[in-house]
Amino acid sequence: MASAVETGKKLAAYQAVNDYITPEHKVVGIGSGSTVVYAVERILQRPELKNIVYVPTSFQSKLLIIEGGLTLGSVDQFPEIDVTIDGADEVDEQLNAIKGGGACQFQEKVVAEAAKKFVIIADYRKKSTKLGIEWTKGVPIEVVPMAYKGVMKSLETKLSLKPQKSTLRMAVNKAGPVVTDNGNFVIDAHFGAIEDPTSLLKEIKLLTGVYEVGLFCNMAEIAYFGEADGTVSTL
Ligand code: 5RP
Repeated sequence: MASAVETGKKLAAYQAVNDYITPEHKVVGIGSGSTVVYAVERILQRPELKNIVYVPTSFQSKLLIIEGGLTLGSVDQFPEIDVTIDGADEVDEQLNAIKGGGACQFQEKVVAEAAKKFVIIADYRKKSTKLGIEWTKGVPIEVVPMAYKGVMKSLETKLSLKPQKSTLRMAVNKAGPVVTDNGNFVIDAHFGAIEDPTSLLKEIKLLTGVYEVGLFCNMAEIAYFGEADGTVSTL
């Protein structure tokens, strides 16, 4: 039997696809992660959504689109996207989000920003009063490899909110750092509860060597959460 978490992911994804993707849409952005797999599953159950072009946000979502037999597009071909659906690691009550648990935050942000509507799908564990409370793995910061040490030092010395710790994300086998789809590294910066994610985002983006920050502020139109009791809630 599926766990409450998996059921929550599926419920949120199915509901968001039902509500937000229609045959009138021309271009839809597809986020990354395990929840998005259910969104593509639901799209494939609806043949009327087959004529839409789908824009991926990672190698993973590119494969989901291709293997599902859907039409693949890119954001430079289609800079205007109707809707982008994506997962998140944590979402606060103002719909700010931490993303990048899968190290895809740069392409995810480009595709989310290109969309008229950005829709988040997640299980109940991702709902939070303040970013940094529920997601304890830190804010993912994509950095240019040769600058990673410099960024780590700048995080400690140049921010109004100092991180409690920052770590270079390592591959599961610890043989080397995680390398993003853009050839970069990821630093996970632990701030604890983040009072003002927009200010923190602006400050981190100014640091030399930072490619993108996994703070998505004021971007989402709605978030769907699959709850443990089998219902779906929205914010
Ligand atoms: C990848 C992401 C994912 O959307 C986020 O990590 C959520 O993943 P999941 O749906 O597996 O919980 O931002 O960079």
